[in-house]
Amino acid sequence: MQATFFAALSVDRFIDNRYKQQLVPMSKMWVEKHRPSTVRDIRGQAATVERLAAYADLGTFPHLLFAGPPGTGKTTAALALCFDIFGERSKDNLLEMNASDERKLENIRTKVKQFARTSPLGVDFKVIFLDEADALTADAQGALRRIMEQYAETCRFILSCNYSSKIIEPIQSRCAVFRFRPLADDQVRMQIETVAKSEGIELDQDACEAIIHVSLGDLRRAITALQVSASLSNHVTRSLIYETTATAPPEDLHGYLLACKEDGFHPARRRLRTILDQFGLAGTDLVNQLHRALYDADFFSETQKLDITEMMATIDFRLVEGGGESLQLDSMTATICSMFRD
Ligand SMILES: Nc1ncnc2c1ncn2[C@@H]1O[C@H](COP(=O)(O)OP(=O)(O)OP(=O)(O)O)[C@@H](O)[C@H]1O
Ligand SMILES: [Mg+2]
Repeated sequence: MQATFFAALSVDRFIDNRYKQQLVPMSKMWVEKHRPSTVRDIRGQAATVERLAAYADLGTFPHLLFAGPPGTGKTTAALALCFDIFGERSKDNLLEMNASDERKLENIRTKVKQFARTSPLGVDFKVIFLDEADALTADAQGALRRIMEQYAETCRFILSCNYSSKIIEPIQSRCAVFRFRPLADDQVRMQIETVAKSEGIELDQDACEAIIHVSLGDLRRAITALQVSASLSNHVTRSLIYETTATAPPEDLHGYLLACKEDGFHPARRRLRTILDQFGLAGTDLVNQLHRALYDADFFSETQKLDITEMMATIDFRLVEGGGESLQLDSMTATICSMFRD
């Protein structure tokens, strides 16, 4: 009962993608609406896509483990592979579980086992897709290891995780491991332009570059940034992207660093306040974004950049530990400014 419920959820998503695109209401999440439904449409991850496409052609695959940062196509690849192989029959033969909701040993024992032990319907094997498997407790992973072996004939597992180091060795050795990388700028650009075009959004060239800058290779974040901005205006501009993603544009961060060097503590501090207020940044966001901007600030020497990096790491740590934001950020400004005092 539960199994069918989970399966139905994921398959409906695909039927939406492939056949109902035109009927989808405007309010639907674009990340879902534009999720590739066949392996070959996945952006980037060339080596992985090639091997998965070969599995799709063969109509079979071993247990799989997908590891990599968020928004790079792991869930997409798992669902697309099943849909490529089973088509309409995915509905009855795929159990999708989010392991972070079902981390306990009991759930693995009951739900997974129950689904694994019934025979596949009209196909050679069933698939259990355990999303975010790194959230499973060690006990649950231990139970899984046995189940994977016991039912290997009739049931394949696809595990997805952000950190493969959190998956116990015996499970890793039972799987073909695929590593997903952050998407290259070109790949993000292509997908964003495709989505913008199909949604009828006017996207400025520099707005697209801004999306690439804020996404850091995470396509989910990129598409979400586009949708949030597009919900405010059909014409998506660079400043709209920065304002809606709580990201300061590089030139503002640059301006702050330059002010530390040339204008001294108070003007630099004022600039920092303005950035925080205008873009709604938390202290740690600011320090991390500043860290990225630092390496393009050619008015600092290499040694200064190293010292500032070290100091930013300390400030970030103190903020995370609960240090007061305004005092910590002032301390950062003071340290940078003091590097330029005679
Ligand atoms: N490689 C890709 N090609 C095309 N679209 C992608 C790709 N990666 C991500 N996307 C888009 O981003 C959305 C989220 O991707 P997905 O669910 O596959 O991420 P994930 O790697 O499973 O992330 P997480 O680790 O957070 O679970 C998809 O619905 C799709 O729209
Ligand atoms: Mg996922």
